Amino acid sequence: MAFERVGVVGLGTMGAGIAEVFARAGLRVIGVEADAEALARGRGHLERSTGRAADKGRLTAQERAEILGRVTLTTAREDLRDADLVVEAIPEILDYKISLFRDLDRICKPETVLATNTSSLSVTAVAAATGRPGRVVGLHFFNPAPVMRLVEVVSTVVSEPAVVRDVTELAGRLGKTAVSVGDRAGFVVNRLLLPYLNHAAVLMEQGVAGRDDIDLAMKQGVGLPMGPFTLLDLIGLDTAYEVMGVLFDETRDRRHAPAPLLRELVTAGLLGRKSGRGFYGEEQARSCAPGRSGVISFDVAGQGAQELARRLAAAGFKQVSEGADVVLRLADRPVVEHAVRLPDPATMVGVHLVGDRVAELAATVLTSGDAARAATDLMKVAGLTPVACKDRAGFVVDALLLPYLNDAVRMYDSGYASIGDIDAAMRLGCGYPAGPFEMLESLGLARVRDGLRALYAEYREPAFAPAPLLDQLVTAGASEFPRR
Ligand code: 3HC
Repeated sequence: MAFERVGVVGLGTMGAGIAEVFARAGLRVIGVEADAEALARGRGHLERSTGRAADKGRLTAQERAEILGRVTLTTAREDLRDADLVVEAIPEILDYKISLFRDLDRICKPETVLATNTSSLSVTAVAAATGRPGRVVGLHFFNPAPVMRLVEVVSTVVSEPAVVRDVTELAGRLGKTAVSVGDRAGFVVNRLLLPYLNHAAVLMEQGVAGRDDIDLAMKQGVGLPMGPFTLLDLIGLDTAYEVMGVLFDETRDRRHAPAPLLRELVTAGLLGRKSGRGFYGEEQARSCAPGRSGVISFDVAGQGAQELARRLAAAGFKQVSEGADVVLRLADRPVVEHAVRLPDPATMVGVHLVGDRVAELAATVLTSGDAARAATDLMKVAGLTPVACKDRAGFVVDALLLPYLNDAVRMYDSGYASIGDIDAAMRLGCGYPAGPFEMLESLGLARVRDGLRALYAEYREPAFAPAPLLDQLVTAGASEFPRR
């Protein structure tokens, strides 16, 4: 089936982005909103997004006018009667979606394909509300829809294969890469991404590290395009909260229970970019104050200590084996275990180097403020970005990254998606520099397995225990995953 006229219901951030994607690909678009005010907001999204592209020289004024000219905006659902495809992008509330799909089923011609952009809700439940369940699929875009190259095509047990094939072909025509998946809460990307974002909020609530430090560690240390709190603000805290709730309902995994902090922010109307304030607001990001600790001597121990000592010595600091102002410990176990063996435990700070730009600095319950400040200054002098955190297994980066990698292994092992699809989904849906399996292999399977063991030992969280497949590959001495 050739799709030429498409409808988009709901013109919020996602719906307007989806309408733009269709119009850019030359399709005629009917955008539907509930009332004139919402319609005006939708028009604003479209004009701003294409306006920015024109300002950057990515679109000529004429191309922009043609794109906008292909979009008709209306508050009348009946205008969708001749559409070949209708994509729904209304809020993540199942009852709203079911009632909309009943209406669409009544309004649209029998061959129209109905698609939901749901992030996590059951496509099967939506399909079952219609008289054409075989022609209902999930078509899940990523924010910002004009930029992110992935589309998840979600089929149910009753989807007609020809419909799935046609929709997948359409994704290609839109310039997107389609990953075909079955109907499970969160599909591939949100199932892996949202628990990580939620976990970041939990770490912040627990005081393991602050907002800016966590964002910095993941962006600069791991190379992700955004830190978790910046991304939560982009996605919308209300959406993230809803998705977590759906994941939890399906899995009963307590890591999927929405962080109470999310609930509080959503209740206060702090939804992220769409409301002007979320984790970030009007205030400036915390600035990095220049050094002020007056540290003159240090000692450094642990694996990898030589390189750090070399950098610090080159910057003019003196390494002494006794009576140092600050003792840096490249940590392999809880830092406090090393600290209690020192004559002055207050001088010890744990260090974990992440990539070649970031140093996580873990102060123990015994670390003095002076030593913590001294360690921060030393890292800056050594050309590293310091990230302050508590002495907890995994510090920040491993605590967030390793469970995500473990989840990806479990997802693959469950047969839900292939390694290639999972890697592609995270690269193209979230702009990650590498997919989870690529990351696992470059970090080293044994290092990830051992890090997960340490996390499990600390938090006793069942989901942190290494996935059996990972454990077995390490035991077998493998350095790669089998591409079946
Ligand atoms: N709408 C349209 N275009 C946008 C945009 C927006 N909101 N934001 C950025 N862009 C465009 C810019 O115009 C620019 O285009 P150009 O290269 O043609 O000039 C391009 O994107 C890059 O933008 P910038 O240079 O301004 O900014 P960055 O380089 O920082 O990139 C980003 C911005 C593309 C958003 C990048 O930070 C990124 O990839 N972030 C990760 C986003 C992500 O993970 N999305 C998935 C969220 S999960 C989801 O949506 C699922 C849902 O169900 C919850």
